[in-house]
Amino acid sequence: MSSSKRNLFVTTALPYANGAFHIGHIMEYIQADIWVRHERMCGNTVHFVGADDAHGAPIMIAAQKKGITPQQFVAEIAAGRKQYLDGFHIKFDHWHCTDSPENTELSQDIYRKLKAADLIYTKDIEQFYDTSKGMFLADRFIKGTCPKCGADDQYGDSCEVCGSVYSPTDLINPKSSLSGTTPVMKTSTHYFFKLSDPRATQFLREWTEGVGADGKPRVQADVLSKDLEWLGKDGGLADWDISRDAPYFGIEIPDAPGKYFYVWLDAPVGYLASFKAYCEKLGKNFEEELTRPDTEQIHFIGKDIIYFHTLFWPAMLHFAGKPYRVPDHVNVHGFVTVNGTKMSKSRGTGISPLQYLELGMNAEWLRYYLAAKMSSRVEDVDFTKDDFQARVNSDLIGKYVNIASRSAGFIFKRFGGCVSDAAMRDPMLETLRAAKDEIVGLYEDREYARAMRRIMELADMVNEFVDREKPWELAKAEGREADLQRVASVALEAFRLLTLYLKPVLPATAERVEKFLNCGELTWESSTVALSSANPISKYEHLMGRVDREKQLDVLVPEKPVEEAKPVLPGGEAIADVCTIDDFTKIDLRIAKIVTCSEVEGSDKLLRLELDVGEGRLRQVFSGIKAFYEPKDLVGKLTVMIANLAPRKMRFGISEGMVLAASDASDKAGGVYLIEPFPGAQPGMRLH
Ligand code: MSP
Ligand code: ZN
Repeated sequence: MSSSKRNLFVTTALPYANGAFHIGHIMEYIQADIWVRHERMCGNTVHFVGADDAHGAPIMIAAQKKGITPQQFVAEIAAGRKQYLDGFHIKFDHWHCTDSPENTELSQDIYRKLKAADLIYTKDIEQFYDTSKGMFLADRFIKGTCPKCGADDQYGDSCEVCGSVYSPTDLINPKSSLSGTTPVMKTSTHYFFKLSDPRATQFLREWTEGVGADGKPRVQADVLSKDLEWLGKDGGLADWDISRDAPYFGIEIPDAPGKYFYVWLDAPVGYLASFKAYCEKLGKNFEEELTRPDTEQIHFIGKDIIYFHTLFWPAMLHFAGKPYRVPDHVNVHGFVTVNGTKMSKSRGTGISPLQYLELGMNAEWLRYYLAAKMSSRVEDVDFTKDDFQARVNSDLIGKYVNIASRSAGFIFKRFGGCVSDAAMRDPMLETLRAAKDEIVGLYEDREYARAMRRIMELADMVNEFVDREKPWELAKAEGREADLQRVASVALEAFRLLTLYLKPVLPATAERVEKFLNCGELTWESSTVALSSANPISKYEHLMGRVDREKQLDVLVPEKPVEEAKPVLPGGEAIADVCTIDDFTKIDLRIAKIVTCSEVEGSDKLLRLELDVGEGRLRQVFSGIKAFYEPKDLVGKLTVMIANLAPRKMRFGISEGMVLAASDASDKAGGVYLIEPFPGAQPGMRLH
C-alpha cells in the first residue's frame, strides 16, 4: 500500500423511499461499511454518504392513496431508517434525500451543461393517458389482456403468465390501474439524452475499460462484459428519455414548463447532493472537496442497476464536465437469497432486518455471516439457517471468542492483569502478525470471504496451541506459574490480533475488546504494538452469545410446510384444497332457465342473460362467453347458476349471480362450455 493517504467519497445505492429497508439493503450497507471501516483503519479519509430516493410516480401515487403529500410520505419513511443503520452498526457520515434543494440545484446544473454540450434534444412521443386522472401512464400502471396468451390482468410491458414482452399499446382492452378507465393515446414532447452520440459510445468504452485512481479496473470483469455487450449492440446505446410530464413528483426541467426529470436522472445526482450537504455541515467547500485531485468517487450497488450506474451516470458526469468527476469504481454485488429462493414479500421468503433485531439477534452475527460469504464478484449470497448457525456458533464463538474466554481469566486473576512481555515474541504470534498484509489486501479487494477463512485458519492455529499447552492444567500444577502466564499471554495477544483482523466486520466487539485489553484503538498499524505489562487488562466480560435455533432462527425463517405435489389435470389445474360440506352448502346452486340473451354494447367479451330460477322475477347476469356462444342458441336452455352470489356492479349494470361453465385453466385455450342438466330438471331446483 502506498503511504500517501486517500480521500474517499463512498456511496451505496439510494433506496426508494417507499418502504422500510429489507435484507438486501442491509447486505449492501454491510458490504460498504466493512470496506469503509477498513479504509479508516488504514488512516484514509472517507466520506460515506447515503440518501433516500424520493421521486417518481409510484411514491406520488402511494402518498395520494394515504391522503398525504409525497414529502410527508418520504419523511415518514426516512424517520424509520436510523434504527436499522444503528442496529447493524452501519456508520454513514450523512443521510440525505433526493427531494432537496441541493439535488435540485445539482440536477438542473448537470442538465444545463449537457444541453450546452449539445446532448439534449426533444421529440414528440405517443403514450397512454388517463383522462380521469389527467396523467400519462407508465407501463406499470396499465393493465389488460395479454396479446399473446390472452391472460387477463397483465401489466403494460410484459405478461406474468406467458412471459412475453410487448409494448402497452399491444395490450387487449388496456385499462389504467389507477382509475380503471380506458386510457387514450396522447402526444407529448419528451426530452432525450443523446447517448447514441458517437462521443458517448467512445467515452463509455474508455471509462468501462479503464482503471480507477488506485490503478485497479473500474468495474468487475462480469460487469465489463455486460457493458461491452450493451455498447456493442448495433448503433450503440439508445437515447434516454429523461423527462416526465406533470403531475410528477420530481425536479422541474429548466425552461420546460410542466416537464420533470425522470427519477433515474436525479437519483444518482443525489450522491452528490448528499456529499454537498455533508460538506456544508462540516464547513467544507463541496466543489473543492469533489475536485481535489486525490478524491476518489466509489459507488456500491446491486446487480440490477448496473446499466444506470456504469453507462448513464458516468456519461452524465463526463459530459457535464467540471466540477463533476467520473466514478473511480462502481462495485457491484449480487442479491441475497433465502434458501436459494429470490426473496419476495408476498411469498414471505425474505428476512426482516427489524425482526432480526427485535428477536435479540446480534447484529454482528449477520455482519460476520455475510462477510463470510461475500466476494468481489457479482454473486448471490444465500442465507440458510444451518449455515448461519454453524458460522456463528462454530467460527465466531467456538473459534474466536473462545480464545479470550480461555486466557483472559488467568491473566486477570492470577497475574494482576499483566501479560508476560517476553511471551510477546512467541513464534506463533509472529505467524499471526505476518498474515496482516494479506488480510488487509483481501479487505481492500472486497474479498471478505477469503479474509474470514484466513482469519479462522489463524484462530484454529491458536486454539491448537491452547489445546496443546493446556493452561487449565498449568493453573493447577505446582510451580508452573511462569508457563501459565506465558501461555495465557500468547493466547491473549493472539486474540488481540484476531480482533484487529475482524474489526471491520465486528466493530462493536472490537470496541469492547479494546477497552478490556486496555490496548488503545486498533488500526492496521497496531499489529506491531503488542499487549504490555505496563497496561494491565480489565476483567473479561462475556463478549458474545450463541444463536438460539428455536427462539431466534426458526422464528426469523419459519419452516415452510412442504406441499405435496398435486396432480395437474387435463384442464391444466390441480384439484383445489379440501373443503367441508358446510363450505359447499354455503353456495346455493340452482337450475336456471335462460329467458333472454343478448350482446352487450361496448363489450367484446360479455353476453347479458336474463335467468328464471322460479322466483317470479328474472335475474340479470353478465357472462364472459360472447366468444363461444351465439345468443339465439342459448335462449330457452336450462343451465346452472350460483343464486346467492353477492350482486356485483359492473360497467354495464348489476350482475345478480353467475352461470357455471367449464374451461381450461388458461380460460380460452380449449373453449368454454356451459352446463346443461339432464332432462326433467326444473328452474329453481337446488343442486345438492
Ligand atoms: N432507487 C434505486 C437506486 C437509485 S441509486 C441512484 C433502487 N432502489 S432499491 O431500493 O430498489 O434498491 C437499492 C439497492 O438495494 C440496490 O443496489 C439494489 O440492487 C439493492 N438490492 C435490492 N434487493 C436486493 C437483494 N435481494 N439483495 C441485495 N441487494 C439488493 O434501485
Ligand atoms: Zn401472456
